[in-house]
Amino acid sequence: MTVPTSQEQAVEHEVVGREGAGREGVTHPARIRSFTRRGGRMPQRHHRALAEHGPAYLLDLPRQEAGSMVQPGRSRLDLPTVFGRTSSVVAEIGSGSGDCVVAAAGSDTDRDYVALEVWRPGVAQTLAKAAHADVRNLRVAQVDAGQALAELFAPGSLEELWIFFPDPWPKKKHHKRRLVTPDFAETVATVLRPGGTWRLATDWADYAWQMRDVVEGCEAFDNPHAGRLADAGDPAVDPQGDRGGFAPRFAGRVLTRFELKGARAGRVVRDLAVVRR
Ligand SMILES: C[S@@+](CC[C@H](N)C(=O)[O-])C[C@H]1O[C@@H](n2cnc3c(N)ncnc32)[C@H](O)[C@@H]1O
Repeated sequence: MTVPTSQEQAVEHEVVGREGAGREGVTHPARIRSFTRRGGRMPQRHHRALAEHGPAYLLDLPRQEAGSMVQPGRSRLDLPTVFGRTSSVVAEIGSGSGDCVVAAAGSDTDRDYVALEVWRPGVAQTLAKAAHADVRNLRVAQVDAGQALAELFAPGSLEELWIFFPDPWPKKKHHKRRLVTPDFAETVATVLRPGGTWRLATDWADYAWQMRDVVEGCEAFDNPHAGRLADAGDPAVDPQGDRGGFAPRFAGRVLTRFELKGARAGRVVRDLAVVRR
């Protein structure tokens, strides 16, 4: 008997984007989520972090039925008001426990940062780290970025968008849950300003090739690293594996515990950095 992973169990037991009438009789289309409901009970220190630092860092957004989706048409961020200045803004999707975005905001105080993370314990840890480092140029939105990205950010309002180590969904039957798809690339193209950069990284080879194909297949992006850092690939999944297209490691991407775990398991990290035309 094959024992399902916790990720698979969560998928099987979760009511995911089911089509039907909501509480107010509004019909919600089926959505495939890139995440599962995890966590359950949080330790007291996370509750304390949310209570103490939420007012400074958490974005208060109109929700759809208190979930992780925001209300369409009513959730646009006025970034100069949010940050109290007009600046270049970087967003990170799936910021986890906040290591990367807190370090980046702390060392790059001329720009402002927005972390989009659906996992509440991760949000709590991000707030605690940001407060500890006295970071002022960061705000955190606990949202499903797949739905919220285009609602929160006006067209052309971001200078950079980062997605580092998105959930890999390694089983073929779960690939449809992967965040980086052609449709999602069009949404990213909308919120980035011309000349803005979309940075990605993953330590799952076939997701790296999928990402590379998605970004190079989207007319709105130019890949300045096209053909670079080629590897032999796996002919079964990536017939053009020697095509390359990967960027050198992004210096602003600090080593997270998540990356370290993959490295210990012998996985290779591939970065992408493409530019909005
Ligand atoms: C594998 S973890 C990587 C975390 C972090 N980037 C790192 O390198 O340590 C992926 C994160 O993406 C978050 N995530 C997945 N889908 C998301 C979505 N649609 N919106 C916001 N966060 C999402 C998960 O909750 C998880 O924290």
